Amino acid sequence: MCQGFSARGCFAAPPSTVLLCLTLLVLTIGPVIGWRPWPQNRMNVSDYTFGDSKKFEGSSEFVKLRYHMGPVLTTNITVHTIWYGKWERNQKKIIREFINSISAVNSKQPSVSGWWRTVQLYTDQTGSNISKTVRLGEEKNDRFYSHGKSLTRLSIHSVIKSAITAKTKPLPINPRNGLYLLLTSDDVYVQDFCTSVCGFHYFTFPSLVGYTLPYAWVGNSAKLCPGQCAYPFAVPEYMGGRKPFKSPNGDVGVDGMISVIGHEMAELATNPLANAWYAGPDASFPVEIADLCEGIYGTGGGGSYTGQVLDAHDGTTYNMNGIRRKFLVQWVWNQIVNYCTGPNALDQ
Ligand SMILES: *[C@@H]1O[C@H](CO)[C@@H](O)[C@H](O)[C@H]1NC(C)=O
Ligand SMILES: *[C@@H]1O[C@H](CO)[C@@H](O)[C@H](O)[C@H]1NC(C)=O
Ligand SMILES: *[C@@H]1O[C@H](CO)[C@@H](O)[C@H](O)[C@H]1NC(C)=O
Repeated sequence: MCQGFSARGCFAAPPSTVLLCLTLLVLTIGPVIGWRPWPQNRMNVSDYTFGDSKKFEGSSEFVKLRYHMGPVLTTNITVHTIWYGKWERNQKKIIREFINSISAVNSKQPSVSGWWRTVQLYTDQTGSNISKTVRLGEEKNDRFYSHGKSLTRLSIHSVIKSAITAKTKPLPINPRNGLYLLLTSDDVYVQDFCTSVCGFHYFTFPSLVGYTLPYAWVGNSAKLCPGQCAYPFAVPEYMGGRKPFKSPNGDVGVDGMISVIGHEMAELATNPLANAWYAGPDASFPVEIADLCEGIYGTGGGGSYTGQVLDAHDGTTYNMNGIRRKFLVQWVWNQIVNYCTGPNALDQ
């Protein structure tokens, strides 16, 4: 649910609860836990070795992903974007192309639309699959930081409310198949950013916003914590001079955001109101389809090893093709085979 931090219950919790959450998670899902190089849970990074022993570390018979009868996004999904703060034209282009690539079924393999096929495997009560169609909706620029440069989980609701109630060109209100994506520029701090999350998703509260709208926030970490949130295009100091991958679109912060956006969109589609697809003992500790595969970008991935990815001619690293660009996006959980899958898997 929150990218980089697997339990929503750990959201706004005091440190002792967070510890409890983590303990429960580890007990609940055994070896399968998303990996990011958080400073506080640095493990021995000597596991960065290439080897078959890590094959499908993101798989476990202990993972009991369940459907909790809530709605999923089965009709054409429209993504309404709020650009909060300062965004360059080229940064917007990269992100727009990623979203447009989800339904671009003719892209070169392995493709972003191939990646979305794992998400499409999930269904609702009536047996309807997640929509294969994802398109860009309206956009709203919040250039002047309407709610400041430090946002809380609560003030995010206000940012969304401002966008849907703006006097000029408000975002459409689309609770059924709209998905609201709040993207913050590299000079904006959001509660828990960099210490435990790189993004998260939830839904707006009618009491605050007037509607229940599924939304995700993802931040550009380029200035604040690229080693955590734009990993592996940046590497934290404690990992001892390991060389970062060269990012496919020449923008470490934005290329790092792409995987987080993919993570949140996959989870929003399968668990938009936090009552559909998740693992874990109860609704306060949901572990969702992308949480289970965080840090895994290719066959053999696990721990700080990304798995087998691809090298482009220009020396950049990616694992899937969009319409024109290349992207590196984490895999998601496949409940049919019970492990993480992606379009660049070597053995499928
Ligand atoms: C990390 O691994 C090295 C070599 O295997 C070992 O000597 C060291 O004690 C380990 N450190 C931790 C914190 O586990
Ligand atoms: C819909 O979901 C079912 C169950 O997971 C799966 O077998 C089927 O292939 C899915 N259809 C599409 C078009 O993805
Ligand atoms: C949904 O998207 C498809 C394209 O994938 C389009 O043909 C169809 O008309 C759309 N349906 C609605 C209700 O917008």
